[in-house]
Amino acid sequence: MARLIVVSNRVSIPARGDDRRAGGLEVALREVLRKHAGAWFGWSGHVVSAGETTTTQLEVDGRSYITTDLTEEDFEEYYNGFANRVLWPILHYRMDLAEYSRRDLTGFLRVNDYFAQEIHKIIEPDDLVWVHDYHLIPLAKALRERGHANRIGFFLHTPLPPAEILTALPRHERFFPALAHYDLIGFQTETDCSNFARYLATECKLPSRDLRTFLFNGRSLQLSVFPVGVNTEEFGQWAERGQRSAFARRVSGSLSGREMIIGVDRLDYSKGIVSRMEAFERLLIASPEWRNRVTYLQITPRSRSRIREYIEMDQLVSATAGRINGRHGEADWTPIRYVNRTYARSALAGLYRRARAGLVTPLRDGMNLVAKEYIVAQNPDDPGVLVLSRFAGAAAECEGAILVNPYDIDAVAEALAFALTMPLEERKKRHAASMRRLRSNDIRDWGDRFLEALAVADQEMSLFANLPQSSLPRMASDRPIATARAGSHSLT
Ligand code: G6P
Repeated sequence: MARLIVVSNRVSIPARGDDRRAGGLEVALREVLRKHAGAWFGWSGHVVSAGETTTTQLEVDGRSYITTDLTEEDFEEYYNGFANRVLWPILHYRMDLAEYSRRDLTGFLRVNDYFAQEIHKIIEPDDLVWVHDYHLIPLAKALRERGHANRIGFFLHTPLPPAEILTALPRHERFFPALAHYDLIGFQTETDCSNFARYLATECKLPSRDLRTFLFNGRSLQLSVFPVGVNTEEFGQWAERGQRSAFARRVSGSLSGREMIIGVDRLDYSKGIVSRMEAFERLLIASPEWRNRVTYLQITPRSRSRIREYIEMDQLVSATAGRINGRHGEADWTPIRYVNRTYARSALAGLYRRARAGLVTPLRDGMNLVAKEYIVAQNPDDPGVLVLSRFAGAAAECEGAILVNPYDIDAVAEALAFALTMPLEERKKRHAASMRRLRSNDIRDWGDRFLEALAVADQEMSLFANLPQSSLPRMASDRPIATARAGSHSLT
């Protein structure tokens, strides 16, 4: 098989023990590189002064990890700015939070161009390139401009909202269509995929036969769905072992026989943490028999802490937990334990198994692997119950979960009461149903499925055999985005 070059903003290097802070994207890509030889390219995580950026290559188990630094300016404009203050909110249906500036867009394009320049130094004609997530939407275009005709695939780990929301991005018509330079684009859910198909058809007027294969610049563009899964075997083993670890025993002992509800999320407004705490409070009010009999553990590592919305979230979540604990707590019982720490996934696995309910209620989420991991961690003979937002990608597969609308706080409280009192037989039935689905979509096959589809992507060109090339539109974005790293440049 051809060599694989994986590209993402974050790179997780096994030897560095990055397991602690690894999010869904890193976990998934690590699995891909376990199976496929190649290189993983991205940001080193370091921010340095202009002129001091270095690119470093590390070899681990026959895989190359190539990382490069960002300058202060890059970090502000590309990462904190356009990626996380504009694209992240828009992709999560929160156009009200997007703070667009041309300067950030210019910085974003500059870093994408810089990544392309670094990849240009190592890429060979047969390499398959697999780019990940919203930080790198224009990367294929920047590589094509350098003459690379390689198969290039893209996977979006976040949701993709309807065209009505995408078009709220100023100059969206110059930005999102850059995705058409990929050969294959993968999405987490059918909804995400159909939303983008409709955007390409209505806003970009790209010809398509079936709204899955489009024609652009004489190449075919394929859209498809590849929901990210979990390594069911490994995670199940971690949970079994983890429940006996000193850490899990300490936590369990500290509960003094009470039931536990668990939530684990990066601190982010898309996760619905405040409403979730309010739902727990409603449970204590509506079902007072649970007072002093259940503890809700919310583990929430801080994230993107230079961005205003995240600083405000931090204060709001802490204040909400404090208010609920002050109002409902007892001298010997703290209703909500709120912890801003990261724990290794193997340690979390043991806690998931101890928790009677998993509470995963994002307002919008691409997939949410915590939901899947909570299910996989359960003891099949006495499983806990997952309360899951219908707006998480995982809802499509977690058949046995109690699905809730996270905006309906009373309904989430009722779902929690139902989860805590569910009879064993029903818990087992629901758990088995979810496990069947999760086993059939194990992360170990995810990479293969995408790469096989990427390898045959251009065979779909035959679908367009009878279409006169002269009838094909050129898109506004089909212009160079040449941006020298040192210079500043806008899209016009
Ligand atoms: C989400 C995104 C990833 C990102 C992760 C952590 O899962 O889809 O691309 O890496 O959050 O966010 P951070 O900004 O810390 O990389």
